[in-house]
Amino acid sequence: MSLYDHDGYNIVMPPSPPQTNYPPGPRGYPLLGVLPQMWSEPLRFFQDAAATYGRVVRINFGSRNAFLLTDPAAIKYVLVDNNANYRKSSTVPIVAQVLGRGLATNEGESWLSQRRLMQPAFHRQQIARLGEPITTEAAALGEQWRAKVKAGEPVNMQTEMMRLTLRLVLKLLFGHDVQGEEDRLGQAWTVVLQEFNRRSWSLVQIPDSWPTPANRRFHRALTLLNETVYQLIDARRGRSQSHNDLLDLLLHAQDAETGHKMSDQQLRDEIMTLFLAGHETTANALSWTWYLLAQHPDTLTQLQAELQQVLQGRLPTVTDLPHLPYTRAVVDESLRLYPPFWLIYRAPYQPDKIGGYPLRTHDMVFISPYLMHRHPTYWPSPEQFQPERFSPEQAKSYSPYVYFPFGAGPHLCIGNNLALMETQLILATLAPQVHPTLLTDQPIQPEAGVTLRPRRGVGMRLGE
Ligand code: HEM
Repeated sequence: MSLYDHDGYNIVMPPSPPQTNYPPGPRGYPLLGVLPQMWSEPLRFFQDAAATYGRVVRINFGSRNAFLLTDPAAIKYVLVDNNANYRKSSTVPIVAQVLGRGLATNEGESWLSQRRLMQPAFHRQQIARLGEPITTEAAALGEQWRAKVKAGEPVNMQTEMMRLTLRLVLKLLFGHDVQGEEDRLGQAWTVVLQEFNRRSWSLVQIPDSWPTPANRRFHRALTLLNETVYQLIDARRGRSQSHNDLLDLLLHAQDAETGHKMSDQQLRDEIMTLFLAGHETTANALSWTWYLLAQHPDTLTQLQAELQQVLQGRLPTVTDLPHLPYTRAVVDESLRLYPPFWLIYRAPYQPDKIGGYPLRTHDMVFISPYLMHRHPTYWPSPEQFQPERFSPEQAKSYSPYVYFPFGAGPHLCIGNNLALMETQLILATLAPQVHPTLLTDQPIQPEAGVTLRPRRGVGMRLGE
């Protein structure tokens, strides 16, 4: 039975099995299910499960089950066609503690109203204003690199990119209001982020109220951030002067139908969400891109040739980006191999049926851009880094349920244009001046937590 014809993809769902059955999947232990296998190497575990059991796989967690989907039709069904039946399930308390009811955690009518309110701020024309601060900040890092290049000093590219995107997200959100405060706020965010990653992806949850050193550090950092964000909102509300930043765009955002504007609490939640969603993802995308470029000097040479031809040694601007198709292809291919947001979760409000299998309300759905981006059915030589796959003509041919680094459907990443602009501008600013080489010839393994980061960073020399 052909379920969907999407963009020329004729997708055939498996025949319906008996109604009461779960889909096939790896056997687990009593009570814990497959948790022990999954936790040690989630990427390998999911890839093996999909290769062995097919397009809809039961992931048994003992008390709960998830359906792992690698069928584009089923992915479209959950993320788009029947998306109203699915919430972004997270039961980990730290998520609500840090993000409140920001876009990434909000649901239903309240989410829709916030999304409508914020969408215009992320329109391509609006975010184009943010191009200049991005290039300036990247060029400042380039200056710092010059001495390191000369001295042959090694750097951890992931730390460099985290620092850069952290400074950038502060600048993009608050403009000049946080000048001189970047390091203090950056450190607080790093503490919150570490704890966020640890608790979101940890088997054992230590209660938040226990006065452990980690909990105390986390609370101190979160209090500092909350106080700062509220002070910034308060100060800005009293001023009429306009700023080139996201806080301004969000403060003035108004629902065209209802005239509704955001309260301070909503603004705080959205700012924390944008900070979290927009900073580590972009840093990881860039770190992986440098890693791939260091492994593929021919690609770097081609990238530098394009930059030289178009920019002639000057700094890039947003208007240059359409003339840099190879730079874009490098970013797209890097996002294919290492999608920073590697796993999308959903849980149904009402029982549903996927691939003929009944999905209960306490079950979850897992959709992994990482798995789909490396699926041998859809990609020739899926493990190879080949930016040519994303030439402007080719790029259009991929199904959005096979290549979707920014998700799909109504919850599509609101920052996708910003992220693409940021990664391309940073690359175009810094790539002409370096020839990175890796410190080790061992492959760098991805660590799959909330985001996909390079395990132990990316050690490299920048080279002249
Ligand atoms: C390379 C960088 C990025 C990647 C790979 C990425 C990926 C994603 C993905 C896959 C989703 C969908 C999650 C789901 O369906 O459950 C998402 C949602 C989101 N992203 Fe991004 N993102 C990136 C950068 C950014 C940036 C720069 C911002 C903003 C500054 C941002 C803000 C958000 C928000 C607010 C959501 C929730 C949207 C909603 O549910 O309405 N992201 N992102």
